[in-house]
Amino acid sequence: MDKGYSKNISLKPYNTFGIDVRASQFVSVTTADELRKALLADIPRKFILGGGSNMLLTRNIEALVIHIGLKGIEITEKNDQYALVKVGAGENWHQFVQWAIAHDLGGVENLSLIPGNTGTAPVQNIGAYGVELKDVFHSCEAMEISTGHLKTFYLEDCAFGYRDSVFKRHLKDQYVITSVTFELTTTHHLLHTGYGAISSELEKAGIAKPGIREISKAVIAIRESKLPDPAKLGNSGSFFKNPVIGESRFRQLQADYPEMPHYPAGTGLIKVPAGWLIEQCGLKGYRKGDAGVHKNQALVLVNYGNATGAELYDLSCYIQDQVRNKFGITIEAEVNIF
Ligand code: EPU
Repeated sequence: MDKGYSKNISLKPYNTFGIDVRASQFVSVTTADELRKALLADIPRKFILGGGSNMLLTRNIEALVIHIGLKGIEITEKNDQYALVKVGAGENWHQFVQWAIAHDLGGVENLSLIPGNTGTAPVQNIGAYGVELKDVFHSCEAMEISTGHLKTFYLEDCAFGYRDSVFKRHLKDQYVITSVTFELTTTHHLLHTGYGAISSELEKAGIAKPGIREISKAVIAIRESKLPDPAKLGNSGSFFKNPVIGESRFRQLQADYPEMPHYPAGTGLIKVPAGWLIEQCGLKGYRKGDAGVHKNQALVLVNYGNATGAELYDLSCYIQDQVRNKFGITIEAEVNIF
């Protein structure tokens, strides 16, 4: 064991579900050199921890937990159309969004208030209200876990999809993202107000000509109205992905459930909101012990205080079974389960 690392540390403050499991060893790294040293340390197992906002911890972690604390926001290039902004992986996502808005840089306003850190945002290509991370992504720098070498990945290298990227697939567990560079607009911001809830929120506020600030405020208001604040009620955002089904299967279901919301998802494919499916199973607001389904958004599982990761995991399996029994659709977890 390396004597420089803390032992037997509670991970409760490091995961937004607030699950109290322990790490056998722990280090928070703030520079690429510290990260390299930790990755190459002679310790058999390493576990990378970013913002802890998209994970469910079901057991103690017998490994060196490496918490990514690399900071810094820097404009590396700027002209009258766009700016390249390099952001340390350990920067809180929403604080970066606020920084961009304060500097009048456009592109990330629809992604306001998403929990987690900037470095993990590309892994699952975070998205909300008509915008995904890939729309503003320029490149990222990542360290190879086995060698400590840094490599740059550009947009075309990342195979971004719906809550998906190369870092979840064939490069899984091979790289740690150390910084992300975004291409943001300096003038002529491209506003995305098409998402229904945004336009009605702007209308409610009497705003006819919104800018990036107003859109951010509208998104914050929508999110606060349905999504629980992890600082007050432990959660990991959407627990499941919205399932994509074939058009013919969708037509059969639609005959029974004409009001089923749905969105096109590519040729012959339809995306159905998992939150709706779960609500139809009568599970919105369902609670077993301290593990529950949020009362305003059935896609979000919550920890009312002392739920264990195993209890939340059991609840998620129960929900999957109920949805499968009623609709014949398998909903997959969006969060990573350990
Ligand atoms: N719905 C219900 N009951 C519910 C929840 C939703 O009937 O309990 C219905 C809504 O009425 C609406 C539809 O489902 O017709 C979609 O709901 P919503 O707009 O709330 O979005 P979502 O599909 O549930 C996705 C993302 C969210 C993102 C929102 C807004 C996924 C897995 N989730 O949720 O992302 O904020 O769209 O763009 O794609 C996250 O990933 O953690 C997350 C919060």
